[in-house]
Parts: sequence; C-alpha cells; structure tokens
Amino acid sequence: MRRKKLTKISLIVGSPRKNRSCNFLIDQAIEGIKLISSDYEIEKIQISDYNITPCNGCDQCLRPPNDCPLTENDDMNKLEEKILGSSAILIAAPNYFGSVSSQIKVLIDRSRPWKMKKYLLKDVIFAPLASTGLRNGGEGVISDLINFALIQGMIVVANNLGSPVIEGNIPITSLQKFNLKEFIGKGETDELAGIIAKDLGKRVANLVQKIKK
Ligand SMILES: Cc1cc2nc3c(=O)[nH]c(=O)nc-3n(C[C@H](O)[C@H](O)[C@H](O)COP(=O)(O)O)c2cc1C
Repeated sequence: MRRKKLTKISLIVGSPRKNRSCNFLIDQAIEGIKLISSDYEIEKIQISDYNITPCNGCDQCLRPPNDCPLTENDDMNKLEEKILGSSAILIAAPNYFGSVSSQIKVLIDRSRPWKMKKYLLKDVIFAPLASTGLRNGGEGVISDLINFALIQGMIVVANNLGSPVIEGNIPITSLQKFNLKEFIGKGETDELAGIIAKDLGKRVANLVQKIKK
C-alpha cells in the first residue's frame, strides 16, 4: 500500500552556529507545531551544513530551463529538494550589521530560479524569526526575510494571537537583558522570545491545516 505523503514544514537555522539563538527559536517553533499536530513532516535545516556558492549574476536563470549553472558544483540541489514542496517555511536568521547572515543572503539570491520557474514557492506560508546581540536591529533582519518571501509569492505571517497590548508579534531574541549592561549567560535563553516562537509555530501549523482544507 502506498503511504500518504505527509505535509511538510521546513525550518531553517540561518546562523553559522548550529546550537545558539537561531537554533533555540527554531526548536521552540517546532515544539509549537507539534502541539497542534504530530502529522507534519518537520524538516529542520542547518544552513551551515550546506555549501552554497554566491550568485554571480550570470542571469541564466532568466532563460528556459531557468536553471542555475552553479548547482553543478554545490549543495543547492540538496537544499532545493528539502525546501520545495513544503507547505510552510520558517527562517531564523542572526542580525549581522542589521541584515541577515551571509549564508541566508546566499540562499535568498540562489532561490531566484524558483521564482523564474513561475513561482515555485507561491502561496507557501512563511514566517520570519531573528536573533540579535543588542535589543535593536533584529527588525532589519525580519524585513530582509519578509522581502524575500513577498518577492517569492509566499504568504507572510507573524504571531499575533496573544494580548494585542502586551505581547510581541515577531520572534526576535536578544542576548541583552532588561538591564542593558547584562547579557544572557551560557545555558540561559530569552524566555519571552521562546514563547513567541512557540506560538508562531502553533499559528503556522494551524494555518497550514486551514489552507489544506
Ligand atoms: C559579523 C557579525 C555582525 C554582527 N552584527 C550585529 C549587529 O549589528 N547588531 C547586533 O545587535 N548584533 C550583532 N551581532 C551579534 C549577533 O546578532 C548575535 O550574536 C546573534 O544572536 C547570533 O545568532 P546565533 O546565536 O544564532 O549565532 C553580530 C555578529 C556577527 C558575528
């Protein structure tokens, strides 16, 4: 008997560091997804496991068959296999000078053939998450991720299900504590951002169910 294909949600840890803040946010989001349903195939991707070459602007992806010649020598095909076909994609990226990490920027640029092949990510749910050292700056990362998603035709969501007055909508961790001279120590996490990330996972999982109906 043929097994039913599972609905897939892909989550990308966009930091070159595998077990730090971005990873924390993604793990929280995964917990949230699992609270809604255990039926999803969860694809957790560490961007640092993949060797992807920066786009060189050759524009070959503009011409049929809209393929990128760089894929012959790097891991982009492997990533494509994991990402395409997902019903939702979440990316957590670190704040590097107000923007995403270079690893995530390379992924974004190299995703251009997916757009040129008539929007392969169209109507996929997308949620951005960010980690940052200081309190401010994560918003730039979120904007970069939102721009990517909108240009690819995805549906962007944040978590806005809690108290509209008290609760944050976008999961941005900061290493900085309320007392700004203090930073999160080893083994500590930004609890509030974790709650928001978990709620975001729940929301994404719920929306995937609604859209599939
Ligand atoms: C090259 C580089 C640039 C950074 N630039 C900023 C910055 O402009 N503002 C900031 O608040 N943190 C900055 N940081 C700190 C990272 O955003 C912070 O450590 C983040 O939590 C890293 O995510 P990770 O723990 O998942 O690796 C920078 C870190 C690096 C390595």
